[in-house]
Amino acid sequence: MSHRNIILIGPMGSGKSTIGSIIAKRLNREFQDSDQFIEQRTGVDIARIFDIEGEAGFRERETNALRELLSENNRVIATGGGSVVRPENQQLLKQQGYIVFLDTSLNQQMQRLRRDKKRPLLQTENPRERLEALLKERRPIYLDLADLVIKTDKRVARRLAADIINQLPENLK
Ligand code: S3P
Repeated sequence: MSHRNIILIGPMGSGKSTIGSIIAKRLNREFQDSDQFIEQRTGVDIARIFDIEGEAGFRERETNALRELLSENNRVIATGGGSVVRPENQQLLKQQGYIVFLDTSLNQQMQRLRRDKKRPLLQTENPRERLEALLKERRPIYLDLADLVIKTDKRVARRLAADIINQLPENLK
């Protein structure tokens, strides 16, 4: 296998962006966050894209962003929590990178996202219920795609990043 990208997957609030940027700095690689990339490209935020184009429109943009981001090598890439659902994305992620799943409990997600106003899927009466349903649907996919699974609960980002780096295959360090 000749993966040269490191790809972080996991649900909203699992720390993909924070941990990804620390890993990138330590390994002297370029860091890219798929949501940020989409926002830069479109000039509006994710919530606005959902408003105007619906989730389907956002997913289309997300697939295009992943294609572009993964066409280069040696990057660390933080994906959006729902990026693993489309089969074409799954294939792309598997082909183009070493996949790290940040396995996070519902409680920890809730702690981090309680006051979130940016994520369209959480602007509902009962965000916990929504997160639970998404996790139920997606966790099997995260597990299936993952080359490495890291439990994130009760641990700080710096430690998690160090732990991930330690467990990477030698050719990625
Ligand atoms: C989503 C997760 C978000 C963002 C969008 C949809 C999801 O990314 O892509 O709001 O479907 O879980 P984060 O996982 O970075 O919050």
